Amino acid sequence: YLVRSQSVLQLKPDSGPLSPPVTTWQCQWFQIDLGCDEDDLALHFNPRFNDDTDGTVLVCNSKIAGCWGDEKREIHNPLQRGSTFKIVLKLTGDMFEVEMPDGQEIQFPNREGLDVITYIRIKGDLKLTSFKIY
Ligand code: GAL
Repeated sequence: YLVRSQSVLQLKPDSGPLSPPVTTWQCQWFQIDLGCDEDDLALHFNPRFNDDTDGTVLVCNSKIAGCWGDEKREIHNPLQRGSTFKIVLKLTGDMFEVEMPDGQEIQFPNREGLDVITYIRIKGDLKLTSFKIY
């Protein structure tokens, strides 16, 4: 840092390169889980930003008695790190529909025919600002 002292500009001895006051949002992933409990999920919706295989990807899966099913992957992930967005999840009988902010709609089968969701979990690298059940 440049320090003004007695009208003379001096370089503080311990100064390093000036870094701008920027906060980097390092979201790796987050998840929205709908189901009965932690081990029984009809929908695990998991946007990833740094997946080993696909980089940015939307992963969907179900979990039955603690065991993951077959993953469904959408390689197009329209979410931007650091941005505010709205995601709408719907259960329409035999399908879950996830509406992304760019209009993309992801479908995932309701594999176990769940008709009442009694468990919701949202976790990971996101800040939840609003939550609504219609
Ligand atoms: C695993 C991951 C879980 C879940 C699952 C979905 O690799 O550890 O958190 O996302 O994939 O298939």
